[in-house]
Parts: sequence; C-alpha cells; structure tokens
Amino acid sequence: MNAPLYSLPGSQAQAFVPRASSTDADANVSSASAAPTPAFRTVADVLAQSQVEAVMDELDRDLVGLAPVKARIRDIAALLVIDKLRAAHGLAAQSPSLHMCFTGNPGTGKTTVAMRMAQILHRLGYIRKGHLVAVTRDDLVGQYIGHTAPKTKEVLKKAMGGVLFIDEAYYLYRPENERDYGQEAIEILLQVMENQRDDLVVILAGYKDRIDTFFKSNPGMSSRIAHHLDFPDYAVGELLSVGDTMLAAQHYRFGPGARDAFDDYLQRRVAQPHFANARSVRNALDRARLRQASRLFADRDRVLSHEDLTTIEACDIRASRLFGAPSGTDQAAQAA
Ligand SMILES: Nc1ncnc2c1ncn2[C@@H]1O[C@H](COP(=O)(O)OP(=O)(O)OP(=O)(O)O)[C@@H](O)[C@H]1O
Ligand SMILES: [Mg+2]
Repeated sequence: MNAPLYSLPGSQAQAFVPRASSTDADANVSSASAAPTPAFRTVADVLAQSQVEAVMDELDRDLVGLAPVKARIRDIAALLVIDKLRAAHGLAAQSPSLHMCFTGNPGTGKTTVAMRMAQILHRLGYIRKGHLVAVTRDDLVGQYIGHTAPKTKEVLKKAMGGVLFIDEAYYLYRPENERDYGQEAIEILLQVMENQRDDLVVILAGYKDRIDTFFKSNPGMSSRIAHHLDFPDYAVGELLSVGDTMLAAQHYRFGPGARDAFDDYLQRRVAQPHFANARSVRNALDRARLRQASRLFADRDRVLSHEDLTTIEACDIRASRLFGAPSGTDQAAQAA
C-alpha cells in the first residue's frame, strides 16, 4: 500500500508523506523544511519531472493535422498527470486501462503515433520501458496445433513494460474457420490485457470498418479497449505540409514552382489506386530525390552548390508518370 508512487527516470521521486494541515502549520514554523515536500504538487511539477511535454510538443510539431488524435493524447496525458497528483495525496486509484484502438486508412500515422504514445506513457511512469513491439497475425498465431500459445506468449514477453501494437488486428479472427488458431491468441491476449494492464498497453490498429466488425464478434476485446482513436485521411493541403516537414527533416526544400508542382501531383495521386496518405507523400518525395540526383549526376563538371544539392526542382516532380509525357514543363509554367 505504501509502495513508491512514482517510477520516473533519474528518480528524484520520494515517497510522499501527506502533510497534516499544510498552510496553517507552515505559517508558524519558520523552519518549514521539517515537513517533507511532496515531489509533485502542481501539474507543472509532474510535467517538468517527467519531461512529457517535450514529447507532446514534438508530436504537435512533427505531425501535421491529426487534431482529434492529438487532443485525445493530451487528455490521456492529463489523466495520468492528475493520477500522479492524486497519488501524492494518498488517493489510491486503480491504474486506468489504456488499451487503445487506432483506426484509419494506410499511411495516416497510426504506427508513428503509437510510438510517440509509448514514449509518453513511459515518461509518465505508466509503463516501465516505453518500447513498442509491432506485430501482425503471423507473429502471434502458429500454423500447427500447440504452436500458437508459445508464439503469443513470446511476443507478450517481449512487449511487457511497453506497448504491443497489433496491426490489422482483425486477421486474428477468422469466422469462416471454426478451429482457427487465432482464437487461442485472442484468448491469451484478453487475459493479459486484463491482468497485466499496468505493465502492458495493447494498441489494435487497422481499417475502421473491419475493426468494428471484429469488435462485434469479439465483445471481450471491445470491452477492454478504453480509447478509440480514428485517424482521418489527410486533405491535399495537409499532405503538402507533410511533404514540407519530410523535406526539411532531410535538408531538402522545394525550388521555385516545385511546391505547386507537388500540389498538382498530390491532387492527381489521391484519386489513384493504392493511395496511402502520408506514406505516398514519402514515396513520391523519395522518387523526386532520385530524379534530382540523376539530374545533378548528369552534369559531371559543374561545381554543385549547397543550393543545388538541397533543392528539389519542379522538373523533379513533374517527371512523374502521373503527369503523363513531356507536357510537364507547360504545366510547371501554368502552376508557377
Ligand atoms: N501527420 C503526419 N505528419 C507528418 N508525417 C506523417 C504524418 N502521418 C504519417 N506520417 C509519415 O507517414 C509515414 C507513414 O505513417 P505510418 O506508418 O505511421 O502510417 P500508418 O497509419 O501506420 O500506415 P499503415 O496502416 O500502412 O501501417 C511515416 O513515414 C510517417 O512518419
Ligand atoms: Mg502502420
């Protein structure tokens, strides 16, 4: 019962002895240091000691859009911060269930946010290690009888103290096959999600409609998920900002007209098959970098300036097959 209340890195944490009647008593005793000060008295104390704000700020800065997701993460962080303050007042509470489900189309940031979430939960002392183990059905479910339980348990062992991220979680359940081994994995997961929830956070991810169907058939799983976060598709303007962020992180920038060309590219790309939001942006920029490199490579004797090396030109974008054949340059002029 009087276990340490905090498990912060570099622990300056002290067990808190509740102060009798704080203010009045202190006013009369000049050597007030006699009464131990609780490690945390304000939200700012907890934020400062856990350094969780740095991760939340990074999340805000590095990830474009996702306003509802970010707001939800702040809510969860707030809950944990207040829980710490409550604990410092001796108000014991069961640790909240933090299993989550991230739904959204490919490339909307689910894995990226899950990794940040692991960091946040770690900094707030909710999980011991803060690592993320990402798996799919094949990592959990065996091919033969007797193989599934050891496989699932091995994964759980690796994930303990951190976050277990199960991508396309609905593949664990195959209603068409009554004797599917996936069910065994689900049952083990359910147990651990209930009994070891202060040492492991499970995040299920996948397409929204399929996750919904999965939950309908697996109410036990659904009832253990406390937070449902939906990752919307990005608007073209947001994808463009994602592009800016990605380029800046790699020390590139758009040259004159290149950003407009990329805007044009994205308008076309979103309508194409296999569009994968921010992942498609990353792939398109990777290809633009290849073209930039080929362009520079072709000019053997030119001294390449810093600007040459860091600039993606409109032609590097418009050479994409999405623009069809050589009409690219006309469009560049139009877009500029
Ligand atoms: N909001 C964002 N701002 C900037 N970059 C982003 C954003 N969302 C995703 N990305 C980047 O896009 C790429 C794909 O993101 P991520 O892998 O997290 O998506 P996902 O939803 O897990 O996709 P999938 O369902 O295909 O696994 C990553 O490189 C990530 O850094
Ligand atoms: Mg992913």
